[in-house]
Amino acid sequence: MNGLRVENLTVEYVKRPRLGHKEERRHKALADISFALPGGETLGIVGESGCGKTTLGHAVLQMTPVSAGRVLWDGTEITALKGAALRPFRRQMQLVFQDPFEAMNPRMTVDRIVSEPLHLAFGMARSTRRQKAAELLQRVGLDEAVLSRYPRQLSGGQRQRVALARALATEPRLLVLDEPTSGLDVSLQARILNLLRDLQAEKGLSYLFISHDLSAISYIAHRTVVLFGGHMMEQGPTATLIRSPAHPYTASLLAALPVPAAGRPAHIASDPVPRAGALPSMGCIYCPWCDRAQSRCHFDAPGATVLEGERVVACHYPLPDNRQHHDP
Ligand SMILES: Nc1ncnc2c1ncn2[C@@H]1O[C@H](COP(=O)(O)OP(=O)(O)O)[C@@H](O)[C@H]1O
Ligand code: SF4
Ligand SMILES: [Mg+2]
Repeated sequence: MNGLRVENLTVEYVKRPRLGHKEERRHKALADISFALPGGETLGIVGESGCGKTTLGHAVLQMTPVSAGRVLWDGTEITALKGAALRPFRRQMQLVFQDPFEAMNPRMTVDRIVSEPLHLAFGMARSTRRQKAAELLQRVGLDEAVLSRYPRQLSGGQRQRVALARALATEPRLLVLDEPTSGLDVSLQARILNLLRDLQAEKGLSYLFISHDLSAISYIAHRTVVLFGGHMMEQGPTATLIRSPAHPYTASLLAALPVPAAGRPAHIASDPVPRAGALPSMGCIYCPWCDRAQSRCHFDAPGATVLEGERVVACHYPLPDNRQHHDP
């Protein structure tokens, strides 16, 4: 398959031992995550703060060590590659950071920020770099005059566009977009999402679109993966998932939206506060918060089950498919 495939991905962070203790502590940030992102499509990754979205993006890009599982790009297992063998793949896959301001060197002009990858990836000469940087800026809707500015002199929307221009410089095929519209106001969000859609249509880019905001996801993602506590709860075509969620957690995310996720993002959703209390060590990880839980759920962790319509759900008692009641 062309595009990205993630198989049984697990990421464990090793934390330093607590004072007076010998053994290191391990935190499983992602457990057994699998999905596919065909070339030219967008896959949404949604879930509340701390559920492992950023870790997933970093693991796909080989910026975080993977404890188990595989990441494949166009059929090549990139988790098996190192050093020089990995380099061509790094160029094809770029990250747009959650907070572009923090990721930018405050002492670099936009010109240097955008043209640095041109130098590193293609060894492009200084004179041609500026011209190419100007073209990249123009493509993301910014004037050439922005080239001589510093990050602090840019608005939030301009910074996000500069980050996008920099990511596009190496002519990638996959962009990992980590909360690219959070913190922007409603109209700016919509404009950035539209720009992303245009760029995708023009260049055939694949997007891994990470967001806590289901309404932004519903606007841009063909398919969506719902994460909770590092586990996959549900995945499927976004329109189906929004219209007829199968997992109780997806239903709770939808119920928490200030406006129904009909398509266009009409608000700024704040990152939902993680649910209080520790995750259970056995049974279904969502059990303590689930209004459909039965006794089995307390000791028997549900595996991923394939439902009709390319949907996958990890729940013993999924919600019934209500699509026929809503379809015209
Ligand atoms: N470098 C790290 N070392 C240890 N734990 C981490 C590290 N990065 C993230 N975590 C933990 O992993 C979990 C997932 O974090 P993250 O991927 O940032 O979630 P999200 O992006 O969904 O908010 C959280 O519990 C977080 O505290
Ligand atoms: S398995 Fe049980 S506790 Fe877990 S989400 Fe489904 S119904 Fe709720
Ligand atoms: Mg994050």
